[in-house]
Formats: sequence, structure tokens, C-alpha cells
Amino acid sequence: MNHQKIIQEVFSKVNTLESKGNLASYIPELANLNPDKFGVHISTTSSIKYGLGDYKEKFSIQSIAKVLSLCLAFKTFDGNIWERVDVEPSGTAFNSLVQLESDNGIPRNPFINAGAMVICDILISNLKNPKEDLLAFIKSLSANNDINYSAKIAASEKSVGYRNVALCNFIKSFGNIKNDPNEVLDFYFDLCSLELSCEHLSDLFLFLANNGKTPHNNKQILTKAQSQRVNALMQTCGFYDESGEFAFKVGLAGKSGVGGGIIAILPNEYSIVVWSPKLNEKGNSYKGMKFLENFTTLTEQSLF
Ligand code: DON
Repeated sequence: MNHQKIIQEVFSKVNTLESKGNLASYIPELANLNPDKFGVHISTTSSIKYGLGDYKEKFSIQSIAKVLSLCLAFKTFDGNIWERVDVEPSGTAFNSLVQLESDNGIPRNPFINAGAMVICDILISNLKNPKEDLLAFIKSLSANNDINYSAKIAASEKSVGYRNVALCNFIKSFGNIKNDPNEVLDFYFDLCSLELSCEHLSDLFLFLANNGKTPHNNKQILTKAQSQRVNALMQTCGFYDESGEFAFKVGLAGKSGVGGGIIAILPNEYSIVVWSPKLNEKGNSYKGMKFLENFTTLTEQSLF
């Protein structure tokens, strides 16, 4: 399979598309992004690495980071995560409050904001230094150590984070947040502020295409079964109320973020990251979705 040739072809095609969508301006810092940025990078289990466009530039990974916090919780928490967070697609926006009332504060899945906050709460209860430990965990996933939170982006989101504050307090009222909601929110905003490039992200996520094992140093990060479950969750819940469409048009396990990044996994084959900051009405990268749809159409490889 010549992934590189197909990436070149699809990149040129999608680059010339009308630039639709909007920046995630509800986070003030993200409104300053250059809307024309466009990068892609693939890392394969057979050690091929290839990128095009702005693939070396760091961007705010936002909700993509929720996969990493889930992986760390999976690895370190000896209780049952799934008693506190469900594994069902929500069919609602990533920041919706409505289902929490009827679901008694149990978020539908770990990728909507509510679910990611419960995972943050679990990590705070189980780790000595959650912020540092999470960073160390992420660093262990690839050979590149150049990873950090962005204090600027976290502060920017916090300054307008009324809905997330409401979500966290609402869940607390049902007893499904154990720690101080302010501490959980600070950790959540830091998590979402992580900045990485397409190249670095695709390398780092390769363990989920490799049955839970990091290819660069053969460390078993998650068991094979855990890695399969994280991929299943990405496939069913990674794009919120556009998850069905992503499965239908792209057919990979994936996760988006409002910084315009998308990570997608084809187990036993590759991890691919696309970044283009303008978002469609569901909060997923407009060009990123188009790129992946065209990519899997031409490669004829998918989960199905
Ligand atoms: O909490 C928020 O709204 C953002 N920090 C993350 C949202 C996000 O990335 C949704 N993904 N498409």
C-alpha cells in the first residue's frame, strides 16, 4: 500500500477545496489561529513516517487529549471506570448538559466534556501529582519529550468556561465528582491545552494501532483488550453527534479536537493525524474530515 502517494493526492485535492467552517472562537486564544494551516502526518506499524504541509507545527489538541487521560486512567485505576462513565455514543454536542439529569450524573462516554471531567476526577484521586504524572505518561508514549501544557490556552478557556463549570458542578451534585470541582476543572483545562504537532501526535498514538504496545521501545502501555476498547470508544464516540457519519464516511477509530486536529487509527496498520483549524457545525475539522474520507476511499482500508 503506497500511503504516501495517496496522501499527496488527497492533500492537493482537499487543499484546493473551498475553506468552509469557523474557528473555535468560543475559546478566545483559538480565535487567533491562522485558518489556512493544514498538515497531515502518518506513522505506520511498519515504521514508515510521512508528513505534508504544516505537520511539524504544534497546535492545541483539545479533546484529542481525552483519549490520553482515559488511557492513563485505564492503566492506573484499579476500580471499575465504567461504573462512573458509560460507553454509549451521546448523540449530542460535546458540551451538552441535558442527558446528565436523566442519567443521574453518569456521563454517556469519556470523550464528551462531562465524561472527560469524571476521568480527570479519577486521575486526581489516584495520582500523586496528576498534572506532572499525565505529562510523564504522555512523554513515555514516543521518543519525543517536547510536550507541554499551554498556560495561555488553559487560562483563555478558563476565563469563559461557564458551561464546563456548570457541567462539573452538576455532576458533583450527583456525587460522581469526588474532588473539589475547581481542582477538576483546572486539570481538565490543562489537559485540553496540550500542544503537539501532527508528526508528534501520530507517533505518540501509534501504540493504539499496535495492540497497546509502543513501537519505539516495545513497552506494553495498555493490554491488547484495553487498547481494543479505547479504539472501540473512539469509533463510536470520538466525533460526538457526528460519530455515525465518521464511521460511515471514514471507517476508522478517531478523535477530534476543537483546535482542528483529528487523530485516526487503523489497528495493526497506522495512526494518522490531520490538522486544519476551521470546524464544521459539529465542532470537527472541516478539511480534516474531508481529508480522511478521501484517504480511506482511495486506500480501500477501513475497520469494516
Ligand atoms: O471543553 C471544551 O470545550 C474544550 N476544551 C474541548 C472541546 C473539544 O475539543 C471538542 N472536540 N471536538
